[in-house]
Amino acid sequence: MSTNSAPFDIRSTISENKLKSLWNLMSGYKRIYLFAALCLGFAAAFRSGTYLILGQFVDALVSDDDIGKYIPWIAVSFFVLAAFQGVFTYISGRLAAKTSEGITRRLRNFLFDHIQRLSFSYHDKTKTGDLIQRSTSDVDAVRLFFADRAIGLGRILLLFIVNLGVLLSLNVRLALLSIIVVPLTIILSLIFFRKVSAAYEDYQDQEAVLSNTLQENLTGVRVVKAFARQQFEIDKFDAENTKKFQKGRKFFSMHALFWPFSDILTGAQMIFGYYIGATMAISGEISIGTYLAYAGMIIWIIWPIRNLGRLIVQMSTGLVSYGRIIEVIKEQREPLSAGDHKPQSDTFNGEFVFQNVSFSYEDNPIVLDEISFVCKPGQMIALLGGPGSGKSTLINLLPRFYDYTSGLLTLDGIDLKRYPRAFLRKQIGLVEQEPFLFSRSIRENISYGVDREVSEEELFTASKAAAIHDVILGFPKGYDTMVGEKGVTLSGGQKQRIAIARTLLKNPKILVLDTLLLRWMLKQKPKFIKLWII
Ligand SMILES: Nc1ncnc2c1ncn2[C@@H]1O[C@H](COP(=O)(O)OP(=O)(O)OP(=O)(O)O)[C@@H](O)[C@H]1O
Ligand SMILES: [Mg+2]
Repeated sequence: MSTNSAPFDIRSTISENKLKSLWNLMSGYKRIYLFAALCLGFAAAFRSGTYLILGQFVDALVSDDDIGKYIPWIAVSFFVLAAFQGVFTYISGRLAAKTSEGITRRLRNFLFDHIQRLSFSYHDKTKTGDLIQRSTSDVDAVRLFFADRAIGLGRILLLFIVNLGVLLSLNVRLALLSIIVVPLTIILSLIFFRKVSAAYEDYQDQEAVLSNTLQENLTGVRVVKAFARQQFEIDKFDAENTKKFQKGRKFFSMHALFWPFSDILTGAQMIFGYYIGATMAISGEISIGTYLAYAGMIIWIIWPIRNLGRLIVQMSTGLVSYGRIIEVIKEQREPLSAGDHKPQSDTFNGEFVFQNVSFSYEDNPIVLDEISFVCKPGQMIALLGGPGSGKSTLINLLPRFYDYTSGLLTLDGIDLKRYPRAFLRKQIGLVEQEPFLFSRSIRENISYGVDREVSEEELFTASKAAAIHDVILGFPKGYDTMVGEKGVTLSGGQKQRIAIARTLLKNPKILVLDTLLLRWMLKQKPKFIKLWII
């Protein structure tokens, strides 16, 4: 697989039936995977071949033929068969790993990309821990499904078919009597499958709660320390952890309960098979060699059936995890390029007119109530208002992070909703109220918004305008200083200024500052229009 392969649209693989969706997900790997399963079939056939030769050998021995001259040949064929069996098992393992790793790599990349493209309102209502859980632990459960479970199922079916075929050729009655528990075991597995699925889903949900608690606690560790709330937090964590323990116990004990049942069934079948086989051998219905071959092969019929149940039950975890992943994948992306009006940047004026604009977040109470004002090109406007009065909300409407609910908001006389979001976001430079910097160098942080090489000069100009250039030069590594854990810890004001430099470097036509920075403000001359939000 090349690293630059065209993006594979996983949304198109989703169908009503989860198994069918997983099959579609294998696109590009289906043949490899089927071949991997086929190799397991070959390996099974070679194993049965060993038992058949063993049977022949014993029969020859019993009948007192002069078999001395065959012994080297028998030894060689044992060796060759074992070698073939090993080679095919190896090939199959490699191909299954290639498939499962390839599919999950694609799935992980798609999820990462998809999550970035979901709407602001989706992220408002979704917990970070839950998304992390789905992108890691659930993806891994899907990986196991392909690496071990699905191929395992194929292996079991092939072992069963090959060995049963050989057994049927040895003695039909004996073969049929050896598999009477199969339907029972399958029914038992399916019953468990349903029960275990529900318990596992509960367990995964709780794990998501736990990782969310952990994530929130780590983010807010300063608050926890400042208020000396460690004990309170550990109690809260312990409560969630106990719930996980209980759910885990339920899930794993259901799993464990399956074994005694399946062991009793398959154990009884083995004893029954040996008994019938031995009786037939004594009565002369089958030869001793056939009995020995049978005794070897029956293990390879019953063992797979015993595992069939385990695999069906384990597959349920892969299916549940897959279901959790597609819940995210099914979410609509933010249509970045939708919108029929896309002016050329140089003919773009930038006049915002608010006419009775109202807005509320989904079903929440109204935040902006019939706002009307005009913002002309070149004008600088300051919005003043108490906490929660809706200033940040108002400016979030401009790049269409959210769409206004009623009234009319126009840009250059055209309804804002007709502009593609990507276009607006290119034109509008926004400094967030709580700016976020990545754990990368200051240089990378400032040049984040532009996807081209940035010259030192441009970088310095932006930083000087944001009044942070001298501070950056004061750091031992200057612009190459790392931000965050591995480098310097910046103060709130420094972060904000770097965020301003980042936005200025983008050279936006419209500058929106959701921040109070009077001093910086007074030094600047507005280039175009600026909205200054306090
Ligand atoms: N994503 C959201 N989902 C639902 N309600 C929200 C969301 N963001 C803000 N609100 C609500 O909208 C109202 C306005 O919030 P907003 O952040 O716009 O206020 P603000 O004027 O910027 O306040 P501040 O001066 O504290 O920054 C508040 O009542 C807030 O609870
Ligand atoms: Mg605000």
